[in-house]
Amino acid sequence: DTPWTDVCNEDDVFDDNAVGLQIAGRDIALYKVEGRVFATDNSCTHGRARLCDGFLEGYEIECPLHQGRFDIRDGRATCAPATTDLRCYPVRIEGGRVFLQLA
Ligand code: FES
Repeated sequence: DTPWTDVCNEDDVFDDNAVGLQIAGRDIALYKVEGRVFATDNSCTHGRARLCDGFLEGYEIECPLHQGRFDIRDGRATCAPATTDLRCYPVRIEGGRVFLQLA
């Protein structure tokens, strides 16, 4: 069983926003859309950019560097030049805290 890691308060992530977190040596991006939290790797799969600095529109995050896009629900690369999917992490909310399955 993959353990759940407590990463932050649910209130630390604002609706229609992305936030970057360093957790256990990884760079993770958290997003909130319509009250639901999603988690992906924060590094764009195309180049050296952090997606938390990008623009979140609906369920798509746009990379700040070359405007590649990913669906934050499944990590799918949805717009060139991003072509490699992004890794996603399962999210659980409990007692106002956000837990991720990072392994
Ligand atoms: Fe993200 Fe190029 S670095 S699209």
